[in-house]
Amino acid sequence: TEKVTFYEAVGGEETFRRLVHRFYQGVAEDPDLRALYPEEDLGPAEERLRLFLIQYWGGPNTYSRQRGHPRLRMRHVPFVIGEAERDAWLRHMRVAVDELELPPELEQMLWNYFTMAANSLVNAPT
Ligand code: HEM
Repeated sequence: TEKVTFYEAVGGEETFRRLVHRFYQGVAEDPDLRALYPEEDLGPAEERLRLFLIQYWGGPNTYSRQRGHPRLRMRHVPFVIGEAERDAWLRHMRVAVDELELPPELEQMLWNYFTMAANSLVNAPT
């Protein structure tokens, strides 16, 4: 018997594709948060977050083959992330998570991770 990864349990690549696409729709419509993203096209950022999350939750390691070790805290240093930015990021992610309509236990695991990760990336005083 093989251990089912969280990645598989929530529906694999398709689920992460929907999640991250919906998240970036929210970012695109939020001028304050959008201003943090340096590129005119959010497509590449969307792909990086999708591949990272797929890898984190036990799917293919394409992210690290393309980008190397995640080092998320270091990669966010160029962006001023205070409580307001963290809250905006989590607000859009909450909408995206809700729309997946996952079983409550899986949804809770995903959400706990996002709140923990977002808190760990705050790098500026409010
Ligand atoms: C990249 C903002 C939280 C994962 C970025 C970028 C910005 C940003 C502006 C650059 C876009 C790009 O070109 O890729 C924020 C803000 C956050 C936040 C304001 C609020 C706390 C998170 C969290 C995660 C995450 C919680 C993971 C769960 C990533 C990844 C990248 C990225 C994987 C691409 C890294 C790379 O390979 O270059 N983020 N982020 N971020 N962020 Fe965040």
